[in-house]
Formats: sequence, structure tokens, C-alpha cells
Amino acid sequence: MRPGHAAGAKTFPALSEVAVIRIPKTEYARRRKALMAQMEPNSIAILPAAPVHVRNRDVEHAYRQDSDFQYLSGFPEPDAVIALIPGREHGEFVLFCRERNPERELWDGLRAGQEGAIRDFGADDAFPITDIDEILPGLIEGRSRVYYAIGTHAEFDQQLLEWINTIRSKARQGAQPPREFVALEPLLHEMRLIKSAAEIKVMRYAAEVSARAHVRAMQACQPGLHEYDLEAELEYVFRKGGSRQVAYESIVGSGRNGCILHYRENEAPLRDGELVLIDAGCEIDCYASDITRTFPVNGRFSAEQKAIYELVLAANLEAFRHIAPGRHWAEAHEATVRVITAGLVELGLLEGEVDALIQSEAYKPFYMHRAGHWLGMDVHDVGDYKIGGQWRVLEPGMCLTVEPGIYIAPDNESVPAPWRGIAVRIEDDVVVTRDGCEVLTSGVPKTVVEIEALMAAAARSPA
Ligand code: GLY
Ligand code: MN
Ligand code: MN
Repeated sequence: MRPGHAAGAKTFPALSEVAVIRIPKTEYARRRKALMAQMEPNSIAILPAAPVHVRNRDVEHAYRQDSDFQYLSGFPEPDAVIALIPGREHGEFVLFCRERNPERELWDGLRAGQEGAIRDFGADDAFPITDIDEILPGLIEGRSRVYYAIGTHAEFDQQLLEWINTIRSKARQGAQPPREFVALEPLLHEMRLIKSAAEIKVMRYAAEVSARAHVRAMQACQPGLHEYDLEAELEYVFRKGGSRQVAYESIVGSGRNGCILHYRENEAPLRDGELVLIDAGCEIDCYASDITRTFPVNGRFSAEQKAIYELVLAANLEAFRHIAPGRHWAEAHEATVRVITAGLVELGLLEGEVDALIQSEAYKPFYMHRAGHWLGMDVHDVGDYKIGGQWRVLEPGMCLTVEPGIYIAPDNESVPAPWRGIAVRIEDDVVVTRDGCEVLTSGVPKTVVEIEALMAAAARSPA
């Protein structure tokens, strides 16, 4: 049965009917303005593009723009530097970038050049990156404060110090070096933490593409295939949905491999009677999605698998009830700890009184990570989790994951053998709304009944 018509799955329109959703250009201008409004008078913010990373000899890793740089410009090229100078008469947004070069463009693709930087990316002024040594010190000189993410870009840190020293060396001619270096991240990352309506649209779309991919992987799954076969199904849908890169390396862990939290080999055969845990999400216009589903290779949960699965699902559903404006960040995690600890006691896998077991963290051999993280341009997105030593209070527009799990180590001799090696994680992406939260990833089934129905239907009529 095809995606979209399968029992238990959300009905999706064909991928070809869905336009890829991106951040509108106007949004970048709005963000720059909002950042500059928070900067002190007579200051400059400087951000370098991500460097190119060599994979081997003359082959490069796929290029991914630095998230902060992308957030403020949407400019997709390497070898570029943003300078934001509030109140500058000749324009506040200065972009240094590569010049057009017909020969290089023939080999490597088109470049915006300085004209394109102004016309298509809203720069007020654009200069060749090769001229930065001559121009940028002049833009810094006389400004009292430099906003910059010190320590994030090692090579660029060095360059910046050289430009500052160039200014210092001209002190006797009256040049004024800046007096203060200020970390840019607190301002920028607070902005990135609260998603705009346009960002939520992109993230909703990324989540939907990833949801389709997980549905397809469930439908394709059968004993005898390998973990990489399911990875191929996922990444086929990601690309069909217009995603250029995965948000992180896809995890397809069957059987005991599911107990390895960031398993990446994806080579093992899928065995009858085992579960497979898939943690995979695509990236759209530099926004991540992050979904985990766990299902039986043969389409039917065993009694032990089902018991663990339903416990993790109960924790996942309980967490949503604790995500709303005014709730603090850790409430959802604490709720999952309570559900999982009580459930493990009920199943006889932990012994004792629930409050005491929570207090002594007895659940940790089974549930050793937190229930989620901020989600956005980075899969583990920026933004403080505590303010003044207190857990952060949730606000509308914050995006986070909900991902409780139970992992019973294959060598855990404190539990009977049939439980060993079972690993279940269920992960959804949510955005905090005015009165609660919206789950962005509900397109993938997650009850036992829905998953078994979806897989049974796919087995009856393979695509
Ligand atoms: N995929 C990484 C995570 O779930 O945090
Ligand atoms: Mn994940
Ligand atoms: Mn996650």
C-alpha cells in the first residue's frame, strides 16, 4: 500500500503537490533589525560564514552554512563575513563575499557576487572577501564595542585579533581601537530560541517530510533486509521533500543496537523478533526535524516489547501535558521519569517505592538521557535551559523535542533474559503555543495498534 493510503497513517498529499516551505527574504531583514535594535550605540557585530571542510584530498564535505550566519542573512556561500553596524550612514548591513568568477563557477556553481549580495540578499554594501583586510579594520575603527562569538571559529578569531592589532598600530595617527568585546550569542540565541510564524511553518514542513519518511520505513520493513535499507527509504523521502541534508546522521538500530544512543553504523541485518529503533530527521532551509519511532521488524510486538513500548508511549504522552506557557523546562522530563519509574516497578524490573527510586535515580540504567532539547536550526538548538539558576519557563514559539526511552542493556543481569536488549524511544517535535503545545510530528503512527495495522497493510500489498 502506498504512503497516504495506509491504515493507521495520516493521509498525505503526494510530495509533488507540496511546495517546499522556506524562510521569506523579508524575515532576514526583520531579524537583522531586531538584533541591531538591541546593540549598544556605536557598535559593530561580526559573523563569519562556516568554513568548507575537506573530506579527502580535493573532495569536500557537503557545505552547511553556520546557523547564526544563516539566521541573519540566508546567504548560502562560504568565504563570507557579515558586519552589522547600526546607524552607519552608508548602510548597516555589510557583506563580504566571493567575487563572481566564470571559471570557478563553471566547476563549482554560481556565486552571488557583490551585486547579487545587494540585489538578492539585502546587503546595503558588499565587498570582495579578498579586500576584507583593507576594509574591515576601517569599519571597526572608532566603534567602541564589537559583538562577536569569541572561541567559536578558531581561525577567524585569529584574523579578528590581527585586524584589531592593525587598528592599535595606528593609535598614534588617532585610530581608536574598540574598548569592549561582547559575546554575540546571548542576544542572537535568545532570538533564535523563540520561533516566528515563518520559522514554525518551515519546521512544520520539515516535520511532515520526516513523518512521511518514517511511515515509508515502517511500510518497507521486513526480516532479511538490513538497517541501511531502511536508511535508504528514509533518505529517499527526505530528498523527495526538497531536503538537501539530514539534520543529523540517521540512526537505524535493530535489536541491541537500539541501546546505543547515537548508533550510526546502520549495517546489521533486520532479524525476525527484534525491534528496530529509527531516529532520523531531515533539514529544510537549515531547520531540523528530529523523530524517533520504534517498531517490530516482523510487524508484531512480542509481549515484553509491547509492555516496554506502551510504557515509553505513556511517558511521551504525559510529557505533552506539561508543555505550556508558564511551565518550566524540566517539568516534562520529570513527568517522564515518574511514569517510567512507576512502570518499571509495575513490570517487576525495578523494586522499591517509586519516590525513593526517583530520588536515588534508580531508573537511570534504563533511562539515562533527558526527555528533550530545544530544536531549531541546530538539532540540539541554542538557548539557555536555566536562567539565574532556575529552570527556564516555557514561552510560545519555543520548539523542543519529547523523547523518553527505555534501554535494557543486553548484559543487564538484574532483569530476566526476555527483557534484555529491548530498546524503545519515541520522539516527537513540539512548539509551545499560547495555551499548550502543538505536536509537529503526529504524522507518524505511534500506538501499538496503529503501527501493527500499518505494517500489516504494507505486507499485504507491498508498494
Ligand atoms: N537525534 C538526536 C537526538 O534525538 O537528540
Ligand atoms: Mn532524535
Ligand atoms: Mn532529539
